[in-house]
Amino acid sequence: MAERACRLRIHVITLFPEIVRVGVSCSILGRAREAGIIEVEPVDLRSFGEGPHLVVDDYPYGGGPGMVMKPGPVCRAVRAVYNEDSRIILLTPQGRRFDQQWAEEMSRESHLVLVCGRYEGFDERIREVLDAEELSVGDYVLTGGEVAALVVIEAVCRLVPGVVGDPRAPREDSFARGLLEAPRYTRPADFEGHGVPEVLLSGHHERVRRWRLRRSLLRTLQRRPDLLAGAHWDAEMRREMRMVLEELRPEPKRGDGAGAR
Ligand code: ADE
Repeated sequence: MAERACRLRIHVITLFPEIVRVGVSCSILGRAREAGIIEVEPVDLRSFGEGPHLVVDDYPYGGGPGMVMKPGPVCRAVRAVYNEDSRIILLTPQGRRFDQQWAEEMSRESHLVLVCGRYEGFDERIREVLDAEELSVGDYVLTGGEVAALVVIEAVCRLVPGVVGDPRAPREDSFARGLLEAPRYTRPADFEGHGVPEVLLSGHHERVRRWRLRRSLLRTLQRRPDLLAGAHWDAEMRREMRMVLEELRPEPKRGDGAGAR
């Protein structure tokens, strides 16, 4: 029995409803669904297939390898669930790359229709007729869109208010400010000779906060410098970044610089 009003409904159109069903049945998503905060419904594309064999794919015009998903079954399946507020998204490696900003935007929608591709992809007219967006979860090719849909569902649903227990958590994690997270530690304070940075044991919240910001900047600089240009820079971040760069500057060697004789 739902305890709260549903904030986000997601229909996933797929030839493998079981993958989706299992993927959203446990942990945080499972609980959020039970509480009625989100709804995730797989829709069996096969039942919209054509002819006695419920065909959903066909050979490509012009020849070439593989099969193409037919427009009729996909469009009928989407039309069975969508309304004027729905956002229709085709999962395909040709799509725009999914990221945290897109996840945040989607978490404010009321209804998503995710369409999972199989075979060599969708007939181009599906995108045109449905005015659908195309989304890729990364520059690699999966055997189908189901796992990609689960990635999207995970990333989007945890941003829906009420899904994650501590409402601060999704806002503080990697990418929330456009930066990677600072390193994290938990007990014991010494693990196989590896300690924990002193500041984290100090109980001094302001120093901990500043240390985290600085380490988050350092980590992003070292691992994902491409993210820095799109980060949400404020005065404090700029100041801390100057400190990080200062710390990284190599010590001048003896004999270098103006004071050398
Ligand atoms: N289907 C196959 N590969 C995919 C990808 N990288 N992203 C989204 N859907 C896909």
